[in-house]
Amino acid sequence: MSAIENQGRPVELGDVQGLVRFGYKHLTEACFLLLRVSDPAAARAWLAQAPVTSAIKTDRLPETALHVAFTSEGLRALEVAPDLCAEFSAEFVAGMTSDGARARRLGDVGANDPGGWKWGAGERVPHVAVLLYARAGRLAAWEQEIEAQCAAGFVRIERLSTSDTQLKEPFGFDDGISQPKVDWERARPVRDQDQLEYRNLTCLGEFLLGYPNEYGLYTPRPLLAPQRDPGGLLPRAEDAPDRADVGRNGCYLVLRQLQQDVQGFWRELDRQAGGDVDLRERLAAAMVGRKKDGEPLAVPSGESGGAATPRSKPNDFTYRDDPRGLRCPLGAHIRRTNPRNADLPPGGRGILSRLWRMLGFNAAALEQDLVASTRFHRLLRRGRKYGVDAAPARSSPGAETGIHFICLAANIKRQFEFVQSAWLVGSKFAGLTGESDPLLGHRLPDMGDFPTDGFSIPQADGPDRRLTGLPQFVTVLGGAYFFLPGISALRYLATTR
Ligand code: HEM
Repeated sequence: MSAIENQGRPVELGDVQGLVRFGYKHLTEACFLLLRVSDPAAARAWLAQAPVTSAIKTDRLPETALHVAFTSEGLRALEVAPDLCAEFSAEFVAGMTSDGARARRLGDVGANDPGGWKWGAGERVPHVAVLLYARAGRLAAWEQEIEAQCAAGFVRIERLSTSDTQLKEPFGFDDGISQPKVDWERARPVRDQDQLEYRNLTCLGEFLLGYPNEYGLYTPRPLLAPQRDPGGLLPRAEDAPDRADVGRNGCYLVLRQLQQDVQGFWRELDRQAGGDVDLRERLAAAMVGRKKDGEPLAVPSGESGGAATPRSKPNDFTYRDDPRGLRCPLGAHIRRTNPRNADLPPGGRGILSRLWRMLGFNAAALEQDLVASTRFHRLLRRGRKYGVDAAPARSSPGAETGIHFICLAANIKRQFEFVQSAWLVGSKFAGLTGESDPLLGHRLPDMGDFPTDGFSIPQADGPDRRLTGLPQFVTVLGGAYFFLPGISALRYLATTR
């Protein structure tokens, strides 16, 4: 059946791991267990019946949730057939720390070099991640129970603890505000047509394998002859009904431990602001693109892009009326990670205007043209902060704080790696020079030996205000690419050989 014939067909929510649909904000406690297989048979026995939480909504919110994801090394350690493993995407198969070129693209150089990571390189590549979420006060007992179940098959190489979801991220900003709206109803027309307006509603296939993506296509994934699934565990592929679909209802999960130097961040802003407290706050907001309370800079005070107040709907805006970055700098973190643009630079709806822009003749929009269509590069963020306590972030000197960054995507390369390398690490984003992401940049010179440690804040009445010599605020301490399978694929992978 074609993608169009499948439009509107219900999603098998009972087969999708709940993390794809829910952020579990009410489950304020969480920890991530990174495991290596010590006894494949025992590991498979646990995975075959692990109490994984599905994406079905229940009348009462769950008290706990559990999710399981594998690295490609993990699949091999579990003795999954090599030809099946090889059919996953190349970047998943190779792994996050596969080679120097990938490290350079991802900005994993200098202090971020995988050689210095706590986990994720060499013998410390995890095989399996078990993500545990619980209501306040419930995690410790739940974790003990799960660890006891896993003990026969795995050794734990790392336990990533997290902080309460209600707290701000360590630099002191509201987090977890903007997310793509996932098209769970499959209401988006399945065709690859230019989108002239930015829309937040994103095709399910951008996040879940086995469904059409923003191109109207099914992302490649392992598809098997039915004989390889004699128990009939796997769903059939929508686009190839004679094949068993190992990817369907699963997705890739990118996990990175990002340590934040909170003291260093505010010290530098104090220096840049010459001790002016108000200016310091404005500079910090310019770097993020939102004020600490989440209010987006792109929306003029008192307006909200159609909503009652900016606070009530702080995500309904674009940068269309701020092409020079006078309100929100072009290089601000949220503008880099989601430029909120359409497939063509802004312009009229008529056919001539459209043709003009398609051919790249709109010189005024050249900079927007340098930023590829956002809809092919969306990320579903599911990270949690760590090391933050209820006291204001600045009052805990010495404590290691940061974000266990998690994002979900159907295509690691086109989504996570593109955003990370072209938009965050890249020093040519939107025609800028001499700068990379103001929060995440590693500050080392780029390939052409140009500096990346600046940040420009355009001014209406003169040249840009330019910050230079920014130090590194965020250091990568670990990371890996995982596959978060559909629940039937999890059972299949645990029982097949
Ligand atoms: C320690 C590291 C990081 C910090 C402190 C940080 C902080 C923030 C903050 C404060 C926001 C605004 C609130 C929100 O919309 O949720 C935000 C948004 C966002 N961040 Fe980050 N972030 C970090 C790392 C990353 C990384 C590594 C990526 C991607 C590779 C990323 C992608 C995004 C995206 C996609 C948004 C939403 C943008 C939008 O739709 O407007 N962030 N981040």
